[in-house]
Amino acid sequence: MKRVLKWVGAGLGGLLLLLVLVVVVQVYRYDRSMSAAIEVPLVNLAAVSDSTVLARGKHIATSFGACTGCHGPDLSGSPPESFGPIGTMSPPNITTGRGGAGARYTDAQLARAIRYGVRHDGTSLIFMPTEEHAWWPDDDLQAVISYVRSVPPVDAEREPSQTGVLGKVLTGFGVMDFRSAIAAAKSPPGIPPDPEPTARYGAFLALSCKGCHGDNLAGGPIPGAPGDLAVPANLTPHETGLKDWTYDDFTTLLATAVRPDGREIDPFMPTENLDRMTDLEKTAVWEYLRSLEPREYGQ
Ligand code: HEC
Ligand code: HEC
Repeated sequence: MKRVLKWVGAGLGGLLLLLVLVVVVQVYRYDRSMSAAIEVPLVNLAAVSDSTVLARGKHIATSFGACTGCHGPDLSGSPPESFGPIGTMSPPNITTGRGGAGARYTDAQLARAIRYGVRHDGTSLIFMPTEEHAWWPDDDLQAVISYVRSVPPVDAEREPSQTGVLGKVLTGFGVMDFRSAIAAAKSPPGIPPDPEPTARYGAFLALSCKGCHGDNLAGGPIPGAPGDLAVPANLTPHETGLKDWTYDDFTTLLATAVRPDGREIDPFMPTENLDRMTDLEKTAVWEYLRSLEPREYGQ
């Protein structure tokens, strides 16, 4: 009996050691990937002050681009949001004020950060949803950097974002990847059509829904999200999704944050940003959602 216990003890000890080793290796690999420079070209675009361009930039940044949703209405950043052992997301100040990235980045670096998720020093950003922005044509990207440059400087120092140990291990096993540049490079966006009220254009706009509603848009809990966070719904035309919804229901939800059955929607769903989309953009997103294969709820 004693011998058996000794062997069981040794076995458990060995398992624990193996686990610690796996964690140490994954953390080391993650940290090394984060200090490596990413090989992408600078994006040669310069900010302009033309009012039509600025209006286009503001439209993108405050609607489907969602810059203001994370970086705050005045782009001075927002308080850190903890995902426990996964990490902490802390959207920085991107104005030209003290503590702002605006002063550290050239226009070309700013454009590269948005399109490729690369920091001014060439390393990868984390938590920036680059795969949602990478498809923007040059004129749209130029409009966004012009807008970012045009907002008044705000002095605000923000804490850096951080990946926790669990986040690093899960990245190593391919469960998730918050390394903006590295994750985005794995899924090149393709070339969008000119804006049109079709599913084809909607597919690009709806990339911004996938960070929450999942790659197949079938909803379900976001991996690693805290338990008290609202769970994204199924957006496919399935009974457990939007089967019975009309386009009017969809636009009413965006405008009022109320569902067709009268239930209010959780503020985690960014209706305020998405309602700023034009009718053409809303129609494109809706046409795309209707074109999806109906799928049962769950990512
Ligand atoms: C989901 C939230 C989110 C959205 C949406 C978002 N960002 Fe970010 N962004 C972040 C976080 C978090 C960081 C910090 C990343 C880091 O430090 O590694 C960041 C970093 C940046 C940086 C680099 C700042 C620095 O200090 O080096 C720039 C520039 C930037 N974002 C611009 C934008 C613009 C422009 C948009 C809209 C097109 C946008 N972001 C949309 C979360 C977001
Ligand atoms: C930041 C996360 C987030 C993003 C981005 C997001 N959603 Fe949502 N969405 C949610 C959550 C969470 C819910 C469920 C809220 C609740 O239960 O009250 C939801 C609910 C919905 C609903 C209601 C469905 C139902 O059955 O009640 C629709 C429609 C919807 N989202 C469409 C979209 C579209 C279209 C996009 C992209 C253009 C999008 N969402 C982007 C988080 C998000």
